[in-house]
Amino acid sequence: MQMGLDGLQDEWSRLAETDPLWAIAALAGTKGNRWDITEFFLVGERRVEGVLAHIRELGLELATDDVLDFGCGVGRATQAFAKHFTRCVGVDIAPPMLVAARQLNKFGKRCEYRLNPHPDLSMFGDASFDLVFSNNVLQHNPRRFALGYIHDFLRVLRARGLAVFQMLSGPSNPWLRWIPYWALDPAFNRTRTVLRRITNPDEGGWESHWIPPSVILSFIRRNGGEVISTVRESPLQGGRTGQAMEQHTYFVRPGRAESGTVQVSGAV
Ligand SMILES: C[S@@+](CC[C@H](N)C(=O)[O-])C[C@H]1O[C@@H](n2cnc3c(N)ncnc32)[C@H](O)[C@@H]1O
Repeated sequence: MQMGLDGLQDEWSRLAETDPLWAIAALAGTKGNRWDITEFFLVGERRVEGVLAHIRELGLELATDDVLDFGCGVGRATQAFAKHFTRCVGVDIAPPMLVAARQLNKFGKRCEYRLNPHPDLSMFGDASFDLVFSNNVLQHNPRRFALGYIHDFLRVLRARGLAVFQMLSGPSNPWLRWIPYWALDPAFNRTRTVLRRITNPDEGGWESHWIPPSVILSFIRRNGGEVISTVRESPLQGGRTGQAMEQHTYFVRPGRAESGTVQVSGAV
């Protein structure tokens, strides 16, 4: 059983209504609206600055007119981008996240927050953005949706634009890697989610999925994208009952080239 987008919207709306910052980053000691708001937004700034630094290291030129933050939550990355981009658009599936994002926004009209309950980005025309960013979002969507969004990231990018998105890549446990992910993911995900909900509710338990990097890289190339860099992040710890998960951040141009270097390094 996997959630459709309606289920995802309900789940994230419920989380956003009760404890939005913890729903976004369930760190120990932050449940019950106990995140320090300044620290929470600093985490977003550090993430965005790390991404922009990596883009500079890669020697990529990037226009700074329009950025899309896909799955923006309360806008911690959207606002961090406002220091660099003229127009920052955050989209989310959960209306209460957007209410919180607008309340917390410190950058006026430079940041706009929009609802997107659809399995694509049809609300935006082709070539609308210089940068599309997505962090801790695609993993909450079943594979068919995640790949559909990646397809549209490329479509809405301008010719010299860049998509930067993070995705879970599979269990760190080498024994589980022998089982094909299309067989393992739904059953594993369901079991993990139920176990976490029962035994460790303080760590959250919302649906999450993974896609191996090889599948993502070939999907991008088949859709005309050029993978510039793939960065291995620190594994996401699974808690007492969960499994640690590998995760990567992909830097992708909407070009036509077939090649792409795979860079394995620390977190950006
Ligand atoms: C873990 S939070 C991350 C929020 C934000 N990216 C950050 O790092 O602060 C996941 C967010 O993605 C949103 N989300 C999940 N699936 C989505 C989808 N299909 N379309 C848009 N937003 C989605 C959720 O509502 C939630 O706000």
